[in-house]
Amino acid sequence: MEDAYKINGGIPLKGQVKLSGAKNIALKAVIASLMFKGAVELQNIPRILDIEELLNLIKLLGGRAEFVKSNTVVIDGANIKSNKIDLLHASKIRVSFMFFAPLLTALGEAIIPNPGGCRIGARPIDRQIEFMKALGVSVKYNAEDGFYRARLEKGLVGGYFKFDKPSHTGTEFAILLAIFAKGQTIVDNASLEPEIDDLITFLNMSGAQIKRSGRKIIIEGVKSLTQRGEYKIANDRNEAVTFAVFALATGGEITINGISATMIQSFIDVAKKAGAGIKIEKNNIKFFYNGSLGATDIVTGPFPGFMTDWQAPWAVLMTQAAGVSTIHESVFENRFSYVSELLKLGAKIDFFKPEVKSPEKFYQFNLGKNYQKLGSQAIKITGKTPLHNGVLKVGDLRAGVSLIIAAAIAGGESIVEGASVIDRGYEEIDKKLIALGAKIKKI
Ligand code: EPU
Repeated sequence: MEDAYKINGGIPLKGQVKLSGAKNIALKAVIASLMFKGAVELQNIPRILDIEELLNLIKLLGGRAEFVKSNTVVIDGANIKSNKIDLLHASKIRVSFMFFAPLLTALGEAIIPNPGGCRIGARPIDRQIEFMKALGVSVKYNAEDGFYRARLEKGLVGGYFKFDKPSHTGTEFAILLAIFAKGQTIVDNASLEPEIDDLITFLNMSGAQIKRSGRKIIIEGVKSLTQRGEYKIANDRNEAVTFAVFALATGGEITINGISATMIQSFIDVAKKAGAGIKIEKNNIKFFYNGSLGATDIVTGPFPGFMTDWQAPWAVLMTQAAGVSTIHESVFENRFSYVSELLKLGAKIDFFKPEVKSPEKFYQFNLGKNYQKLGSQAIKITGKTPLHNGVLKVGDLRAGVSLIIAAAIAGGESIVEGASVIDRGYEEIDKKLIALGAKIKKI
């Protein structure tokens, strides 16, 4: 096994695709389930490597976590006795820091390493640490071993906390930690991603008392959580956008089942500007190539903006659009790992450093005095450029899927090395693509 996908490109992809459950809801719903009394059943959980790693980690800590049907998992944290997550598992699962919530509430102490540097940026957890401290948790970082030791001295006490800059998983973590805190917790300047609201719905139907009013989330502490009804997580909007780009980039047409337009509105708006064919029905969206594509200018941003996760696929599409397109990444400081790979296929892409009035405010990552050191946060793509085949290396999940899109456009056989990175977040991508007419094989 070489951990690669072999693709023979140049085929317009056509047909229907059924979306899987959202990775970025599933991971958090599984961790939240550890805080329930009794076992929890979650439906529409994607069978992806990130979820498998998470289930393994729960088993390692002593809990129950298993698929009982094709996309249904059962989670039970009752027997978790270990309060420490080892370095290897923490590095495999980026959301491992969220275990501070179930471990602290159940055991009063949690020892978790810094998830550390990843391929899309530094991704520190300073905002979550500040939140823990605000709720009365004692947190110490040991620079020698890289572990945070968090301890409840008196118990969690609700209070007011404002994120200086919002954080998607930081907001979800704050909600989890505040659920059993004494009194009321207000999380201000919270993120707006719809995945967070799915988690809130799940928790509220299980006994939590959480209200959102725009960027303010108010949590009244409760004593316990119990599953009271079926819970099926929403479909993956990132997967929806990925298949939309497959349709447009290969000159095909794909109907995406199980997504409403509001979930990907900012993508639809930009795709329309580029000249994409789009037919919206109640729970289906058809994307089709309309004869030609034009250049666009994108600035990524938190919800309701154009998602950072969509810019890599979009960059591949813009190699096929007439004119000069730009993409300015504001959320992560290192999300262009795919550029060097696209250059190998003949794409014309240049980095540039855009002028930004208040960079400390504009960029979502911590900037401080590092602005001078900040590299190019933007690219210029000149199209339309025919892509040829090549051997490509995956940097991160979304970059990886973009290379599959590029290989699907290119004539001839391409190899995308790093299939397991793509399989972390996409359920059976090869089978779904084959059903649309693609020639792709895991090798
Ligand atoms: N940040 C900090 N300190 C913190 C928290 C965040 O500096 O304590 C920085 C991050 O490094 C980043 C920015 O703030 O530069 C925004 O990060 P945020 O916390 O909002 O992102 P995240 O929660 O780490 C989630 C998704 C990402 C998705 C972003 C944006 C999960 C597991 N991950 O990341 O998804 O791109 O929100 O919506 O939900 C992916 O699926 O491939 C992926 C990376």
